Amino acid sequence: MTAEYAENEPRPSAADGSAGSTLPRTAAVIPAAGRGVRLGPGAPKALRALNGTPMLIHAARALAASRAVSTVVIVAPPDGEAEVRSLLDAHALDGGGRTEFLVVRGGATRQESVRLGLAAVPADVEIVLVHDAARPLVPVDTVDAVIETVRAGAPAVVPALPLADTVKEVEPGPKGEPEPVLATPERARLRAVQTPQGFDRATLVRAHESVTLAGEGATDDAGMVERLGLPVVVVPGHEEAFKVTRPLDLVLAEAVLARRKANRGF
Ligand code: C5P
Repeated sequence: MTAEYAENEPRPSAADGSAGSTLPRTAAVIPAAGRGVRLGPGAPKALRALNGTPMLIHAARALAASRAVSTVVIVAPPDGEAEVRSLLDAHALDGGGRTEFLVVRGGATRQESVRLGLAAVPADVEIVLVHDAARPLVPVDTVDAVIETVRAGAPAVVPALPLADTVKEVEPGPKGEPEPVLATPERARLRAVQTPQGFDRATLVRAHESVTLAGEGATDDAGMVERLGLPVVVVPGHEEAFKVTRPLDLVLAEAVLARRKANRGF
């Protein structure tokens, strides 16, 4: 008989990467230093509550739910390091105490925040996941699928979903003005990418050392690995790994949590 587990409950997932295991050790970096302006005024996005618990805590639990993840590095807003540390103390994150949680200070762009988080990853870790705090509800099966694919030899792995909407490439114009369409990519070949993205550590470090992007920097770590000319593969993502960006996403996230709670009741 197969045991049944509530989603994101600690359980036997990918074989563990703890000390003594021969499997490569895995760490997760959670960039959580963004302001989240599209969500409206208020606290930094990662510190906003979903059903009373900060998004960042949900995200940290989601990664720690994988038995393969031995360290979680949280990249805090530059002025929010102390607050993140006290949130970690206030919330029970890992029943078994098998995951180490570290907090570092973030930077001005997501790319900079990931680089600072990566610098804090313990030396013996060979696989690094990068996961947006803004995707608090990613199921553990998605986390494990990414790790397994890196373990199988892929230098960079991205969970992604096919698109529901057709996508147009446009010539961006002033806000609200009609914009000329340049192209319509074939929808069946497009994927919307999520996190956690998984990497061979040396590959991700090399990407962060050698790829610099102007403006807001890289919004996606796998894109930096592509620029190195290395292969990146996609594995199936999950609809619950959506990014909380706009106010309506908060409503959806709380509905998902309510459904999980109701399912646990049976
Ligand atoms: O702004 P966006 O939703 O694309 O941010 C994605 C993730 O990157 C969020 O978890 C956010 O907290 C993080 N981020 C960061 N440092 C920044 C900007 C964004 O850690 N300077």
